[in-house]
Amino acid sequence: MSAGTTALPAGRPEHAWFAEARLGLFVHWGLYALPARHEWVMSKEQIHPDTYERYQRYFEADRYDPRAWARAAKAAGMRYAVLTTKHHDGFCLWDSALTDYTTVHTPFGRDAVAEFVEAFRAEGLRVGFYHSLLDWHHPDFPVDVHHPLRDDPAAAELNAQRSMERYRAYLHGQVRELLTGYGTVDYLFFDFSYGQDSYRGLPGKGAADWGSEELLALVRELQPGIVVNDRLEVPGDLVTPEQYQPSGPMLGADGEPLAWEACQTLNGSWGFDRDNHDYKSVPLLVRMLVDGVANGGNLLLNVGPTGRGDLDPRALASLDGLATWMDRHGRAVHGAGPSGGTPPPDCRYTRRGDRLYLHVFSWPLGHLHLPGMAGKVAYAQLLDDASEIALEEIAPDQQAQTLVPGGQPPGTLTLRLPTQPPAVAVPVVELFLR
Ligand code: GLC
Repeated sequence: MSAGTTALPAGRPEHAWFAEARLGLFVHWGLYALPARHEWVMSKEQIHPDTYERYQRYFEADRYDPRAWARAAKAAGMRYAVLTTKHHDGFCLWDSALTDYTTVHTPFGRDAVAEFVEAFRAEGLRVGFYHSLLDWHHPDFPVDVHHPLRDDPAAAELNAQRSMERYRAYLHGQVRELLTGYGTVDYLFFDFSYGQDSYRGLPGKGAADWGSEELLALVRELQPGIVVNDRLEVPGDLVTPEQYQPSGPMLGADGEPLAWEACQTLNGSWGFDRDNHDYKSVPLLVRMLVDGVANGGNLLLNVGPTGRGDLDPRALASLDGLATWMDRHGRAVHGAGPSGGTPPPDCRYTRRGDRLYLHVFSWPLGHLHLPGMAGKVAYAQLLDDASEIALEEIAPDQQAQTLVPGGQPPGTLTLRLPTQPPAVAVPVVELFLR
């Protein structure tokens, strides 16, 4: 383990908070919470925009209480939160002057973004916006591979009336509203580009369509310290693997580590999906988080609140489970990063300063052998309860016999573990480095 390998890959000093935070809350909330069968329902079921619009009349969100969301996120150890200001269906959660297709023009009748930012800031979390580049509601957005009207025989004719230039002005105008009306916005998650995906002669959309260079310049001008993702099809401040965990640090073409954040769902859907019960277990969520930190990445974990505005009980249970673990183990995550060392099988290392955290995914019997760590550790304890873990170095030439285990390769440090792991989602041994 080389000293000084704890550097958090963050491009700019004002972005250091992002790598420090490691864990954030993603919130997908919008009209699709009412059909409650995936946030892409409008596209998947090819629902005409005029038909889909009716959900606007039924959006009451009578239980919307972002302070409750913020408290749950904070308890789970989340340090930032990212809200869908607009998803692909085009419905806006703020009081936009550029459209009436917003939460203000629903029975709910309020600016949901304003309440969200206030609530999360009050709990001390940083605030970010997700903003869809796609818009299946806007009359100028040309029909393409993802659009609900893609199979309409008149799609090409429709497109002749539509103007990407006018849509682009709308997109830039709305981003301007979001970045001027709500104070400091720490993070912006644009979604997404698909320039290569043409369908029945309907081209996909990428940087030239969005005016990405210009849009990014506008963002940086309005919010100089903001962290921006990579989905404008021009390089951003981080890369955003979705629904998978990278198998190692993410590297740029130059071989340098990139800042990255895996965005993950609880059940495979981003929006509220009532009949989908495919929830990840709490231990799996913790392992995903730890695995990411060990590889220099963040976890942006999503919830899809209901149409009434509640976090559903399954999501709350997941956040609660995470909270229980983070309460005792947060210091192995916040401000921690890759260790530069190689952990034993079924384990991960994270490191923060002179403490190395050994996350044990599969609890072995009695001994855990750490290659290359002999002489480097002054003291060890379970992070859960600060109970000491004994250390030993087994001589390489020790002969195995009856109760005596065989030697270990030179440089190996051996931990003596209790038979019973601590009753936590993922046990962690805290190693005080010399
Ligand atoms: C996607 C999906 C989407 C989700 C997002 C989260 O690209 O289109 O529904 O909002 O990724 O990263």
